[in-house]
Amino acid sequence: MEKLCISGGKPLTGTVTIGGMKNAALPIIFATILVNDVCILENLPEVSDIYSALEIVRRMGAGVEKIDRFTYRIDTRTVRSNSVPLDLARIMRGSYYVLGAELGRFGRSHTAIPGGCNLGARPIDQHIKGFEALGATVNCTNGISCYTDKPLEGTSIYLDVASVGATCNIMLAAATAKGMTIIENAAREPHIVDLANFLNSCGADITGAGTEDIKIRGVESLHGGTYAIIPDMIEAGTYMIAAAATKGDLTINNVIPRHLEATTRKLLEMGVEVEEGGDYVRVSSDGNLKRARVKTDFYPGFPTDMNPQFCVLLCLAEGESRLTESVMDSRFKYTDELIRMGADITIQGRDAIVQGIDSFRPANVRAVDLRAGAAMVIAALSADGTTVIDDIYHIQRGYEDMVGKLRAVGADIKIINDDIRAN
Ligand code: EPU
Repeated sequence: MEKLCISGGKPLTGTVTIGGMKNAALPIIFATILVNDVCILENLPEVSDIYSALEIVRRMGAGVEKIDRFTYRIDTRTVRSNSVPLDLARIMRGSYYVLGAELGRFGRSHTAIPGGCNLGARPIDQHIKGFEALGATVNCTNGISCYTDKPLEGTSIYLDVASVGATCNIMLAAATAKGMTIIENAAREPHIVDLANFLNSCGADITGAGTEDIKIRGVESLHGGTYAIIPDMIEAGTYMIAAAATKGDLTINNVIPRHLEATTRKLLEMGVEVEEGGDYVRVSSDGNLKRARVKTDFYPGFPTDMNPQFCVLLCLAEGESRLTESVMDSRFKYTDELIRMGADITIQGRDAIVQGIDSFRPANVRAVDLRAGAAMVIAALSADGTTVIDDIYHIQRGYEDMVGKLRAVGADIKIINDDIRAN
């Protein structure tokens, strides 16, 4: 079993380059099924969730060819309907985008209930509401099945929750439906805009992505093309916090600073220095961190996917801070692991009350989910001594070459394998 071994206490200095955004790349990979042509996708991150998505599409019959580290050519003209490999679909959240894509192309789809991080109940009722409004029948007794005998027809769909997944899935199903679909109370995350831009580059007619109302005028068919995925704002935010927590000085390249605004604002409030350039941010800290109140929210609010990493920084601030989770039902499981490293955190419902400590102490801990894993890495980097982190497959699902990137800026981090094999 692979583990991360980190000897912390060294400031991170230098330059980190951010990869493509996992949560934008996932719907776009599945969107290629709807496109039914050849797409070249650039700036795909080298993470295991992306390999799983590419493998799902390949096992559905697509030609998937690696052009270079970050670029793939995907030919979906040979995709067969009803061919989703359920074993793979089951292990990742983003696999549910196959539903919107297949429904739009074949009028039917069947997949497994999706996995992903355990962040509490993660229902898909808004996806279903959208598919049904477009005219599909949805059955969830054995996995998820959607089908329609007639062409899907555009309509207005009001989302009760501004869900990222539901917005993407409805956009996929509606792109080639008859007439106009309007998604009201749509999610506004940058990855929604990226999916709309990709679909538009393939001939779709989508306006308003990035606002609460997205208008999708159905087109007859789509065509292939070349598209580059946007940089990962959560990977970037994670390194921003790592710089601050280690009293370091990092220049984080290949970012869209506007996407990082919520994180930047909170860091500035805490006394961290943040300089914004055209496509970079530079973050430095002398270690004097002021307490803060942080509440996660839908974009452009503070991202829920930065909750655990930011909590590490609040632990290192003076006095009492408060972190409120308002997007996911259950996002604080990681705090038990931080407490093993000396954190003083009390959970009260959706709030974490964080009392500042001087420093973390090294321990043996686990990555309980993807972003929780990143938080453990940051805590370990800031702690004097050696921390070992277990279950790092979570981290590898969403962080590209984290070990290589951190080593290049001065971290003492390596992967160890503690398998004991009998003779
Ligand atoms: N929700 C519903 N009904 C639905 C859909 C969502 O009630 O039909 C609720 C959820 O239970 C949750 C909230 O709405 O409380 C937000 O869920 P959303 O659908 O926006 O999230 P998601 O599509 O399941 C994606 C990312 C997550 C990220 C969230 C929020 C992917 C594959 N996953 O999940 O990413 O936390 O949006 O931004 O894109 C991660 O990368 O670490 C990660 C967990």
